[in-house]
Amino acid sequence: MSNKIRKNKSTITGDVIITRLLILLLASTLFLIFGPTRSMLDQHHDTMVLPQLPGPSSYAEITELEHEDAFRATIQQCLPPNPKCKQFILPGSSKRRVAVIAPPGDLVAKERLQAITQSHDDDLELIFRTHVPPYGYGKTHGLTQVIRFIPQPLLLEVTDALQSLLQKGETHAIITLSDLKAGLRQILRFHCRLSHLAAHTALLSVAATEDEEISSVLQSFLFPDEKPLEPNNNNDDDPDALYQLHAADGTQILTHVQSLSRFNVLKVLDQVLLEELQCTKNLTIWPCPSFWSAGDGPDPTNMSPLVQRLAQALSPDCEDPYAKCWVERDKCEAAGDARCVKNKK
Ligand SMILES: *[C@@H]1O[C@H](CO)[C@@H](O)[C@H](O)[C@H]1NC(C)=O
Repeated sequence: MSNKIRKNKSTITGDVIITRLLILLLASTLFLIFGPTRSMLDQHHDTMVLPQLPGPSSYAEITELEHEDAFRATIQQCLPPNPKCKQFILPGSSKRRVAVIAPPGDLVAKERLQAITQSHDDDLELIFRTHVPPYGYGKTHGLTQVIRFIPQPLLLEVTDALQSLLQKGETHAIITLSDLKAGLRQILRFHCRLSHLAAHTALLSVAATEDEEISSVLQSFLFPDEKPLEPNNNNDDDPDALYQLHAADGTQILTHVQSLSRFNVLKVLDQVLLEELQCTKNLTIWPCPSFWSAGDGPDPTNMSPLVQRLAQALSPDCEDPYAKCWVERDKCEAAGDARCVKNKK
């Protein structure tokens, strides 16, 4: 009898301990959830109301990554009259083929470029494309000159590309941290490809504009023999304005991803940037890594349909009648074959 009582008593003591542990666990969970939320609300209390349901919540702004300068230091361009900057003209043609190559999205001011080249319609064809040119010289890619813009912050190019590839019925809420990481790797590989092209083909990289006016930079690249444009203080001329216009969309994407993640999303993306720079020797290895193996390990070819669409948009277009894919990597990229076993060295 007394034995039974003692046994009951010890069970009760056990229950009490378990209950206390549970309360402790619940309390610390609530602190984890509400602690960060509180401090965020302290900063934004004028625009936000206390959420009804407890849940992680945060704000992440499109901004330069901590090591973005290391990426910017890799950017190459090739400016005539430097003789190594070839300007291929199609045999039998007098027209220059000038390609503005940019990932899908709205970060290129097409109208402004068209306006600059308008009066040269008879000897210049302006082409907008998202595909990197196949590896090779002018005869291979069929282009006279190439222009690329490098948005600042770079992350804007990632969010803008992913957003522009959403299909009907999809919203920015489907974009995950894995998508952002893969998208960043793809954009870095895109710039890796264009920096290789700048080894031999006339290529203008428009990065930081600061004091220089974008129109006069373009003008002197495209029409070096003409007298420079009158400087004007027109704000249409400012790519920063274009970038700011799209930054809010990017911030919305980042904030949504941050709200679902317990990691600091900007730190994670900075880590991706550093890893990519490291494993590509600052974007100089040849060939650049595949657009189709941009996912997280253990199988980087495992990418969402959205990221696959970006891979397709950036890959060389081997159907282009003016271009030829000679290099095995390019044939594989065009076919979505990341492993490209034939090309294994
Ligand atoms: C890459 O560039 C950084 C400077 O941005 C430099 O410190 C580093 O040594 C470079 N790494 C390689 C492998 O070239």
